[in-house]
Amino acid sequence: MIAPSERLSLPYTAETAAAVEPLYARVAHSVTRAEWELFAPYVARIEQLKRERNAVVLAHHYQTAEIYRCVADVVGDSLALAQAAASTDADAIVMCGVHFMAETAKLLNPGKVVLLPDLQAGCSLAESITAEDVRALRAAHPGAPVVTYVNTSAAVKAESDVCCTSANAVRVVESLGAPKVIFLPDEYLAAWVASQTKVEIVSWKGHCEVHERFRGEDVRELKTSTPGIVVLAHPECPPDVLAEADFIGSTTAMLGWVRERKPARVAMITECSMASNLVDAMPEIEFVQPCNMCPHMKRITLPKILRALETLQPQIEIAPEIAGRARLAVERMTAVGRDRA
Ligand code: 13P
Ligand code: SF4
Repeated sequence: MIAPSERLSLPYTAETAAAVEPLYARVAHSVTRAEWELFAPYVARIEQLKRERNAVVLAHHYQTAEIYRCVADVVGDSLALAQAAASTDADAIVMCGVHFMAETAKLLNPGKVVLLPDLQAGCSLAESITAEDVRALRAAHPGAPVVTYVNTSAAVKAESDVCCTSANAVRVVESLGAPKVIFLPDEYLAAWVASQTKVEIVSWKGHCEVHERFRGEDVRELKTSTPGIVVLAHPECPPDVLAEADFIGSTTAMLGWVRERKPARVAMITECSMASNLVDAMPEIEFVQPCNMCPHMKRITLPKILRALETLQPQIEIAPEIAGRARLAVERMTAVGRDRA
């Protein structure tokens, strides 16, 4: 997506067309030819700047197709992007995702330039809790370790023992060997983790504004009206939605499930780009709605990525008094593998 106000005067020349034309096949199921002529000059210039800057572009599964399929070097869920950030030898990292993902990349690469093309790309979960809230929870549950979902600020991570993502939440909780764990801030992810382990889970009241909008009765109705449909859901969905799902997992886990099992018809109860990015790779599968859009993820656009690479701004900076402790919590997370699917 490129808003008219964002457009720069980058013409679609014969030279541009030749440079990036082979990439069109990657997005032909979700991007029209007219849209491609707008995107192509940005893709060509971004590719050139990536080489000049020795930059790597990391993109979450919720990014639009022209970013996800045409300029990203690595795509993945939050855990995969953190692991990629930890192992890259690029000088600059462009995070096509939201603020907590860029902050995590910076924690793992304090000496590198980490760019978030739009600093306003936030997350309702990260907004739901403060460092002071975590300290109060610890005081209320003495001795219980704190597991923090990576969808939080660095200040909250700094108050935590270890972070997790939806790809390894159960494994991280069980790795602590504690009878009781404070798990924050996503109430629904916490409830799902509690259903998968004997560890007592103390939760917080944070929600993802995208996933909390799905309703169990709508999914039930979809299953009745669409025989043979397979339902995959992200664990940030409410419990009544998860109760209807055939598979529950992180975005990468859902992708792996579809790739391996190739269902004829599937509903992905998550953000809309997840299914549209898969359509390009697996056009033989019918992806059925509903889906909801994340407004924060959609703040990232090709013009903003281009500007970030040209100016090396906006950069992520983290106060040193927070960064050291937050880094430890993230490093402990990346050392734990993924949950068993
Ligand atoms: P994943 O780690 O599963 O990609 O989820 C990130 C996220 O923000 C989901 O809403
Ligand atoms: Fe945050 Fe939800 Fe958007 Fe993910 S989808 S970034 S959890 S608001």
